[in-house]
This record gives sequence, C-alpha cells and structure tokens, in this order.
Amino acid sequence: MDVMSSIRGRRSIRRYLDRPVEDEKLNLVLEAARLAPSAGNYQDWKFIVVKDGGLRAKLADLAGAEQFVKQSPVVIAACGTNPGAVMACGQYKYSVDLSIATSYMALEAHELGLGTCWLGHFYEKEVKDILRIPEGVRVVALLSLGYPAEDPAPRPRKRLEEIVSYNEFK
Ligand SMILES: Cc1cc2nc3c(=O)[nH]c(=O)nc-3n(C[C@H](O)[C@H](O)[C@H](O)COP(=O)(O)O)c2cc1C
Repeated sequence: MDVMSSIRGRRSIRRYLDRPVEDEKLNLVLEAARLAPSAGNYQDWKFIVVKDGGLRAKLADLAGAEQFVKQSPVVIAACGTNPGAVMACGQYKYSVDLSIATSYMALEAHELGLGTCWLGHFYEKEVKDILRIPEGVRVVALLSLGYPAEDPAPRPRKRLEEIVSYNEFK
C-alpha cells in the first residue's frame, strides 16, 4: 500500500474483534513511531504498550478513556519525556513530535489491516498513576489498536479551497 492509500483508507476504529495483534505487526507499528521525525532528532519519547486487560479496563473506567479500549487488544500510550523543550516557533516539541509518531503508527497499522483510534479524551493524572509514568513525563495520546470490527465510511473533510491559501492568509 502506498502512503496516500493508507492516508485515504484509514478511519478511526471504535469496535474491535476479539483477536490478538501478532507481535510482528505490533512491532512494525512501533517501528513506524521509532522512525518518525522529531525536533532536533532528540526522540524524547516513550511508547507504553498496554495489552493487559485489567489495565485497559482501568484506563476506561478510572482515566476517562473511551470504553472501547477494553475491547481493543492493545492500547499505546504516547509519552513525551522532555516536555519543557520549546521550539523557536513557540510550540512545545513533545506535543508535535508525539503527534507525528502517533500518526505514523496509525498509518502503518492501517496498512497492516489493523484499526486505530487516537484518544485525546483521558485524564492524564489517572493514566500516569495506572501506567506508573513518572512525574515530568507527559501523555500526549492513547492509541487503541486491533483488528477492526467495523468499516466506517469516510468522515467529511473540508474542501482544499477552504483550508489552503497562497502567499498570504486568506
Ligand atoms: C488529537 C485527536 C484526539 C482525538 N480524541 C478522540 C477521543 O478521545 N475519542 C474518540 O473516539 N476519537 C478521538 N479522535 C478521533 C477523531 O474523532 C477522528 O479522527 C475524526 O472524527 C475524523 O474521523 P477519522 O479519523 O475516521 O477520519 C481524536 C483524534 C485526534 C486527531
């Protein structure tokens, strides 16, 4: 599958089959994160793979994550390990870096026939308690991962003309 096909075909998947993800596929998804670019190539990140059903249930019930993380056989917590670093543009490196890496994982997962859903709705403090994440590390995203049990239609997007301008902001 070429990159554009994965971009076009990926959907947020919120229903999963009761089928484990093979380690070979999981490792390819993680490899996509490892190879992602990061500001200054510092790679100040950690990806916590959560397969344990008890922990996934706690993420759903105690940390406010979506209930379907109980169903998805894997959840990956994308963490920034140097959250103080700011780029000249004023943006925090970690949130940009981890967003790129999470996107790469989602696209690779789709290529492998797996589904993902990016979760931004969670209580960070509770996630950190559950996954024993040290103070000074930020959780940017949870990514559910597993074989899809649904095949959603594409969600609407704005037209290119609405979101692109040339040479100046219009
Ligand atoms: C930063 C971010 C946070 C998101 N948080 C959630 C979430 O907490 N729960 C959820 O079900 N979907 C979440 N999503 C998925 C979006 O709702 C989804 O990407 C959007 O509706 C477009 O659908 P698509 O991914 O199928 O194209 C999130 C996506 C992004 C990029």
